Formats: sequence, structure tokens, C-alpha cells
Amino acid sequence: MSKDDSLVDVLQRSGVSRRGFLKFCALTASAMALSPAMVPRIAAALEQARRPSVIWMSFQECTGCTESLTRSHSATIENLIFNAISLDYHHTLQAASGEAAEAAREAAMEENWGKYLLVVDGSIPVGNPGFSTIAGISNKDMLLETARGAAAIVAVGTCSAYGGLPHAAPNPTGAVSVADLVTDKPIVNVPGCPPIPVVISGVLTHYLTFGEIPELDELGRPMAFYGQNIHDRCYRRPFYERGQFAETFDDEGAKKGWCLFKLGCKGPVTYNACATVKWNQGTSFPIESGHGCLGCSEPDFWDMGGFYEALSTPLPGFNEAIAYGTAAGAVAGLASGVLASRVKKRAKDQHQTVSVDDLEKGESS
Ligand code: SF4
Ligand code: F3S
Repeated sequence: MSKDDSLVDVLQRSGVSRRGFLKFCALTASAMALSPAMVPRIAAALEQARRPSVIWMSFQECTGCTESLTRSHSATIENLIFNAISLDYHHTLQAASGEAAEAAREAAMEENWGKYLLVVDGSIPVGNPGFSTIAGISNKDMLLETARGAAAIVAVGTCSAYGGLPHAAPNPTGAVSVADLVTDKPIVNVPGCPPIPVVISGVLTHYLTFGEIPELDELGRPMAFYGQNIHDRCYRRPFYERGQFAETFDDEGAKKGWCLFKLGCKGPVTYNACATVKWNQGTSFPIESGHGCLGCSEPDFWDMGGFYEALSTPLPGFNEAIAYGTAAGAVAGLASGVLASRVKKRAKDQHQTVSVDDLEKGESS
């Protein structure tokens, strides 16, 4: 596989049909709330795109983010897209080790200085440089050195985006996020514990298509995927509105699929695409599996309060304040000031879909 190969070349050699490629473009456009008119542009850009160099570094993490993307039971477009980038350095996936691995990183940096994409998972300990080192280099020094030549940085997972689990009180290693240390590069936060694979590939597709990072919210997350909270898109929302709540995980309400708010669901204050994009190729997401949302894409989610404690919110009226009202309307009801500060008015769903048949017809006409 050469760096001159386009994404389409790679996908075709992997057995992905033209129809499959167009379907991927349409789904990506839909997930990113782009107009259907953008689908041909995405397809054209990906056909032209050459494989950009990507350096992926893993610091204080559990490998869940890499597992999320690679542990598919079948060859999906989400993981095939990783064949379409030149993954020149990846702590977990690379075959090289020791000095050869570090030489690969240095070579990729030198060859692509100013152009490569840096992907980071895991937080960075600053309490003591010796807490986490690679090739004798502290995580902090390796990040700062590699970030210098990057065109942009993608912080994958809540640990690299906000500190995550290592940052939870009492934060023994002094864990910080990428954005806490790097302030002079475009950074996209793709939080989640782990993030949804199609969201990771969607961000990479956006970068390949438009040559720039997508529009971000105030927490550095792509608006297209994190623009709405789980609660607004949750299929259990009618039960919430009617005041029908499961009280335990095995009561009649739970069996009937009632709202999990009283069992600690953090969906009303969590922004992520789980309720629309879902997991495992659109199969399900935590709430559909019977467990409340833990808020894993929010900063400090480990310190939000008990995972099984309900947000202390007055009912009814809470839904209106959270979903469409001002922060002031919701503040009184929220469990903590940390959560309250994140409540915001969001745009209504703009997701649109386009059929692959229409795209194919458009190409042939
Ligand atoms: Fe869904 Fe949770 Fe909201 Fe209930 S509280 S409607 S389970 S997101
Ligand atoms: Fe995380 Fe909640 Fe989705 S726990 S995986 S943001 S439903």
C-alpha cells in the first residue's frame, strides 16, 4: 500500500463496492448533520485524498479507545478507513518495538513536518514525569515534541480530552488533558469512554474531505456528533414525560422499558451521539440495553456523583428547562454546579438522510 493510494483505491482493494463507499459517504454526511447535497463532495474529496500521515500516541489509558475502533466482528467501513490513512506510529498496533518504533515516529515527523495528524488517547501525568514514560521519554515531553510538527490534533477518548478516569479525585498522577498542555494547535476532542467508532472515523473523514477540523462546541467537541444531549433523542423519553420510571433494574417498569432517570441516568446532561448513531453498527446503546447513561463524554464524569444516584431535579418542568430553556431554568434542579454549567440550548435535530439509490442515479445521469 503506497502513500499515493487514495482512500477509494484502498477500499476497492479491500472488497468494498462503489455502493458501499457511497453508503459510507451518505451515512457520514447524515451523522455530521451535513446537507445531502454535500454527499457527492465528500465522495469526490475522498476519491482524491491521498493517505495522510497519522501518528497515534497512547498515554495513561486502558486501550479501550483503540479497541473500540478495531474490535469489529466484520470488516466495517469504520475500520477500513484506518487503512486509508498512513498510520505511521501507533503504540498498540505497530509491529515495531524499542528503538525501531521510536525511529519510525521520528521519521514520520521529519518526512511530514507540519502536515501530519496527531491522534492521542489517554491522559498525561504531570505530577511526576516518571509516572508514565515511553522509550525513557515522559508522556508530557513526547506529546509536546510530537505536537510541534502536527497540523492538527485529535484527542480520542475522555482521558485525552478532559483527563478522564486518571483525573478523577484525588488525581494521584496529576493527570491532565491534551488541551491543558498544547495551546497552539487546532484540537478536536472526541470524548467517550470509549468514543463511538463512527464518530472517530467521521472526524477523520471530515478532515480528509475539507482539510480542516469540524465546527466545535465550547468543550472542543464536534457539534455534529455532540450537539444534542442523549435525553433529547432517547426513545424512552415518552415515559419520562409521563412520569413512568423504573425504580429497580428488575421491576415491572424496567421490563416495560420505562425511563431510567431514577436509576441514575445522566442522559439529560450528557452530549453524545449514542441515541442516534448507536454502537456496534447501529445495534444498540447503553440505555437500550437497560442501563442508564453514565455521562461518559462529559468532563469529570467519574466525579459527577454516584452512577446510580438520580440527578436531584424537580419534576415536572425539568425536561423543558434542560432541553430548550436557559441555564438559569435548570440550575436550581441540577445536582451540581459542574453539571449546571454545561446545560445549554441546542439546535433542533438537523440530521438528514439521502438514499444510496438516489446517489447512484445521480452518478449515472
Ligand atoms: Fe432516556 Fe435517561 Fe432521559 Fe430517561 S432520563 S428519557 S432513560 S436519557
Ligand atoms: Fe457514554 Fe452515555 Fe453514550 S455512558 S456510551 S454517553 S449513553
